[in-house]
Amino acid sequence: MKTGLETLILPAGDAAAEAAARTLASGGLVAFPTETVYGLGADATDAAAIAHLYAAKGRPAFNPLIAHVADLAAAQAIGRFDARALLLAEAFWPGPLTLVVPKTAGCPVADLATAGLDTVAIRIPAHPVAQAILRAFGGAVVAPSANISGHVSPTLAAHVASDLAGRIDLIVDGGPVEVGVESTIVGCFEAPMLLRPGGLSRERIEAVLGAPLARPPVEAGSDDSQPLAPGMLASHYAPRAQVRLDAREVAPGEALLAFGPSRLPGLDAASAVMNLSPAGDLDEAAANLFGYLRSLDAKGAPVIAVMTIPEQGLGEAINDRLRRAAVAR
Ligand code: TXA
Ligand code: MG
Repeated sequence: MKTGLETLILPAGDAAAEAAARTLASGGLVAFPTETVYGLGADATDAAAIAHLYAAKGRPAFNPLIAHVADLAAAQAIGRFDARALLLAEAFWPGPLTLVVPKTAGCPVADLATAGLDTVAIRIPAHPVAQAILRAFGGAVVAPSANISGHVSPTLAAHVASDLAGRIDLIVDGGPVEVGVESTIVGCFEAPMLLRPGGLSRERIEAVLGAPLARPPVEAGSDDSQPLAPGMLASHYAPRAQVRLDAREVAPGEALLAFGPSRLPGLDAASAVMNLSPAGDLDEAAANLFGYLRSLDAKGAPVIAVMTIPEQGLGEAINDRLRRAAVAR
């Protein structure tokens, strides 16, 4: 386990991108912003670096990683894209979409990163800092969210530091992320399948495909032994507080995670209140979700009550993360 490391924090820029590329090339671990959440990167071909990455996060090694690349040519060197996969790649990359496709014959991504699967998850992030690091490094970078396994994903460099300082080599600080929930994961199988709702809405993907996305045969997370997106374990994104969904009122002492303009009964007795989007905008709510969960959790309330969030657009991803946070541990 890499502990007791001196973790360097650099503001995003040319010098940081160069330092990130050098650190990755020498087997180190670098946290960097993508438009969804901060990722913790390692050289995708370096099994030792990937082993350090799993250890730094405390992540079970059966949970595979997303390979990040700068462009479609690099993506096609590691994964095989059929017509529908190409259609999605061309419509939404760079962006908050991850595609799971069969590995190429010469796929250089280490088996440890794909957990021995014959598929690989690939993403081209749009964030200029992520792009600069990928181009400076010149290879694929595997990157899970840059948090301790099971914690809320980081949307600020400070979140990364609070989880991983002393365990990783470098954090590149590019300010707050834009989207705020992880990428949407689509499995490019016979029928394209929504493996994880995320920062690109189902509606936009289905509009391009001209067909509904298939659902995983077993709702991901309900069977932890064989999840299709193996990271979708039932309890995930967990704050310390208990999370109570669909709150219609606030009990004294509860913290409230609000959404929209309405005021719940009991609001004045809440120990803390944060509103994901007073105007009821789901994109704004997604961007605020993880940071507000961290803030409310830090105030120490035993329960975070959460108002109902509509199940449309990014609401599907928000509700997915909240349901996981609410699973009793
Ligand atoms: O937005 C994101 O996707 C962020 C940023 C950093 O890119 N990354 C992220 O990674 O959320 P992570 O490791 O927290 O989640 C990756 C998910 C896991 O649920 C994992 O099981 C799934 O991708 N996955 C990876 N490879 C897979 C594969 N071959 N088949 C199915 N699922 C896979
Ligand atoms: Mg994660």
